[in-house]
Amino acid sequence: MMVGTKRQSSSSSSLIKRSIWIIAFVFVLSFFLVVAYYYQPKLKASQKGCYSTQGCGTNTNDVQLIKVEDNKEEEVELVPRELTDEEMESRVVVKDILRLQNLQPKKPKVAFMFLTQGSLPFEKLWHMFFSGHEGKFSVYVHASRETPIHFSNYFIGRDIHSEPVAWGKFSMVEAEKRLLGNALLDPDNQHFVLLSESCVPVRPFQFVYKYLLFSNVSFLDCYLDLGPHGNGRYIDYMMPEVEEKDFRKGSQWFTMKRQHALIVMADNLYLRKFRDHCRPGMEGGRNCYSDEHYFPTFFHMIDPGGISNWSVTYVDWSEGKWHPRSFTAEEVNNRFLEALTSIDVCPHITSDEKRTIRFTPCMWKGSRRPCYLFARKFFPETLDNLVALFSNYSTLL
Ligand SMILES: *[C@@H]1O[C@H](CO)[C@@H](O)[C@H](O)[C@H]1NC(C)=O
Ligand SMILES: *[C@@H]1O[C@H](CO)[C@@H](O)[C@H](O)[C@H]1NC(C)=O
Ligand SMILES: *[C@@H]1O[C@H](CO)[C@@H](O)[C@H](O)[C@H]1NC(C)=O
Repeated sequence: MMVGTKRQSSSSSSLIKRSIWIIAFVFVLSFFLVVAYYYQPKLKASQKGCYSTQGCGTNTNDVQLIKVEDNKEEEVELVPRELTDEEMESRVVVKDILRLQNLQPKKPKVAFMFLTQGSLPFEKLWHMFFSGHEGKFSVYVHASRETPIHFSNYFIGRDIHSEPVAWGKFSMVEAEKRLLGNALLDPDNQHFVLLSESCVPVRPFQFVYKYLLFSNVSFLDCYLDLGPHGNGRYIDYMMPEVEEKDFRKGSQWFTMKRQHALIVMADNLYLRKFRDHCRPGMEGGRNCYSDEHYFPTFFHMIDPGGISNWSVTYVDWSEGKWHPRSFTAEEVNNRFLEALTSIDVCPHITSDEKRTIRFTPCMWKGSRRPCYLFARKFFPETLDNLVALFSNYSTLL
């Protein structure tokens, strides 16, 4: 609010005096209006319904003003919100990319993108995994802390430019985009897999290759969690583009078909929403982690039928801690691997008090199939066991 400048009035004319009073009154009134505008209580968008292009929650009565033509008592949800220019432009691009005929190259490849801090403790295992399948894959490593020391020729020279990545921060999403961008440069790459240094393959290469390339979806985890670690991280500042009813959660370890990777490159609108309003320690004292929400929410909004809603990377959250369980050498044996690879439903646990577990059946081209191609997290000490077990992988085909 600007401070009004004092006006010297030498004239004693009552007209001027009255004008001053009116100006002063208007100042005070507009001051109160501005204060009232900023301090009015925020509405929970999903409950109240807000479909104004001018931004939401400015007036509780706005909602009642939206009426359906025939005066019937209709759900407000049915009234389509007018899209902003940017939203309209974004949808045009997304729609055309999704409509593109998939130009299958002669030799389609799977891009394995490793998001690591430094060296890969399981490089030896990955080397065995890739061995004999040259020409069907490419490897990219984004090492955010120290330059990795590679010994496998599948990894040597595959480090891309990297930036520091902090756990839970937006730099994580930026690193994922950097990996996708680099991998998209190769037109033969048709499917893109994000992995960490604590991920291991639990199937032979041929199985993984077919599973990913012959499916028509991206294996992206996506579920609704109404608890504090799900929608509790949502904030109305993401309106109008991202409404709470569309907010989703999911593991960051995705696989993506080429069209989806291109859409990620093209998106700036939703990316900005998450970058500015989904961070640790953001407005309202909330902690939000974009790497768990941006892709699930974005793809749920733009192509819900194009994502699997579960991840092909196994992880054990059953302990309910901040980080998933890491497996030790004693636990990693043939029985463990057989059990893991026969799972064909994916559990999603909500973070509310009820801790509801919902099981999503893993469907591959219309039929129920085992869910997992990769698994995390493993202590480096498990390497020898995993290498010994690898010869048994072929029996898991
Ligand atoms: C994923 O879930 C959405 C609903 O959230 C659904 O529309 C979509 O069909 C699901 N995807 C698959 C492949 O079943
Ligand atoms: C993928 O394939 C399944 C079964 O073949 C089909 O029902 C589904 O609509 C397809 N999805 C997409 C996004 O093309
Ligand atoms: C491989 O599988 C066979 C038969 O299931 C089992 O006897 C053997 O112990 C397994 N190898 C390892 C290294 O666990």
